[in-house]
Amino acid sequence: MTRPIWDKGGAAADEAMQRFCAADDVALDRELFAYDVRASMAHVGGLARIGVLTEGEAASLVEGLARIGEDFAAGRFVLDARFEDGHSAIEHLLAEQLGEVGRKVHTGRSRNDQVLVAARLWLKERLGALVTLCLSVAGACLTRARGTAGVPMPGYTHLQRAVPSSLGAFFAGHAEAFLDDAETARAAWSRVDQSPLGTAAGYGVNLPLDRSGVAAELGFGRVQISPIYAQNSRGKLELLGLGALHQASLDVRRMAWDLSLFATAEFGFVRLPDAYTTGSSIMPNKRNPDVVELLRTLPAVVEGAMAELSAILSLPSGYHRDLQATKGPVLRAFGRALDGLALVPALVAHVAFDEARMRGAIDPTMYATDRAVELAVGGTPFRDAYRQAAAEMTGTAGLAGRTPEQSLGARVSPGGMGALGLDQLAARLAALQVEAGGAPSG
Ligand code: ARG
Repeated sequence: MTRPIWDKGGAAADEAMQRFCAADDVALDRELFAYDVRASMAHVGGLARIGVLTEGEAASLVEGLARIGEDFAAGRFVLDARFEDGHSAIEHLLAEQLGEVGRKVHTGRSRNDQVLVAARLWLKERLGALVTLCLSVAGACLTRARGTAGVPMPGYTHLQRAVPSSLGAFFAGHAEAFLDDAETARAAWSRVDQSPLGTAAGYGVNLPLDRSGVAAELGFGRVQISPIYAQNSRGKLELLGLGALHQASLDVRRMAWDLSLFATAEFGFVRLPDAYTTGSSIMPNKRNPDVVELLRTLPAVVEGAMAELSAILSLPSGYHRDLQATKGPVLRAFGRALDGLALVPALVAHVAFDEARMRGAIDPTMYATDRAVELAVGGTPFRDAYRQAAAEMTGTAGLAGRTPEQSLGARVSPGGMGALGLDQLAARLAALQVEAGGAPSG
């Protein structure tokens, strides 16, 4: 291992202790490294503006940082256990490249605000991706809803056949869920959009740092005011982001459940595209819906991360090394859930439905509710109408001649089955798309 940047020349730190404290942190920092480099460039620019670095020094540092970023991206520099963490690596490499000037980079900052800013830039990008993916799932669902508004399918409560519904209504329901999720993710993004840089170890420094200039250069909407709160918000904002991810994962899980149920021979409504099924090593007849099953695990992954974070965050004010342990769960949950979510639009676009089978699953008793309401409209008290409709279910008269189209066509209130509200949903999608397009991506 290279000499720790905090080494003051005393007795060497115990190796096993160092290994334990480093844990997998340096490997996790690979995901944050590029953001750390970017924030370091902005920090250096800020130092030059207040005269702490000369223009020439700042230019060399920015150039050095750019080189480090390029070497890292190209795999010429590998961030590994030679370094305590990514932050130390940056300082080490700059010192190696630039000598004395390189050793000036850390003026007025702490690894505490350095990790905060890198994690926040990373999280903003992930939340931006979450917004985009939710909108793309909603868009795919809306497209399917438009094409299937007139395709009858049973509506279920308690997983029991209830009333006639449509495939369009099924997709419209999922579309609206992901519109909500996009809005939730967007709100979390706005909260994370605050720069912690310049708060140093959590108590500021004796320099007139250009905090807002640095924040603006990094694409942040504002700065966090209180240095103490900047530290205390570490992990808390990640938890907020996970909360938004959780909402979307719940809706992915519900859709995955629906598809896996509908893909059983017993339902026989859905045929998953070949590209989205797997086989069995022993049973040649199997077409397995592994992907929807694994999509169903996303809330578990996110909830695990949320539980870990909440437990870690039981801390008094200020930086504590405990906070390092928030990194792994957050990176893992976002990585897994966004990868899963990215599969959903194509799955929605290509999943095939057996229309005859769905129509055939609508039996005449499912018109009993329509019948009861019709009788009530004619003046019969609803409870009496309900009983009369129930009696007609067993008789041959009454319900048998009805069609799903009549039933759906009569439900015309906004969002009813005859008018699915697809135009309203499309308008909301378009508005959210504009908002998301307006958000700086970084
Ligand atoms: N790896 C550390 C973390 O994620 C970086 C900050 C270290 N700060 C310190 N004071 N030891 O929290």
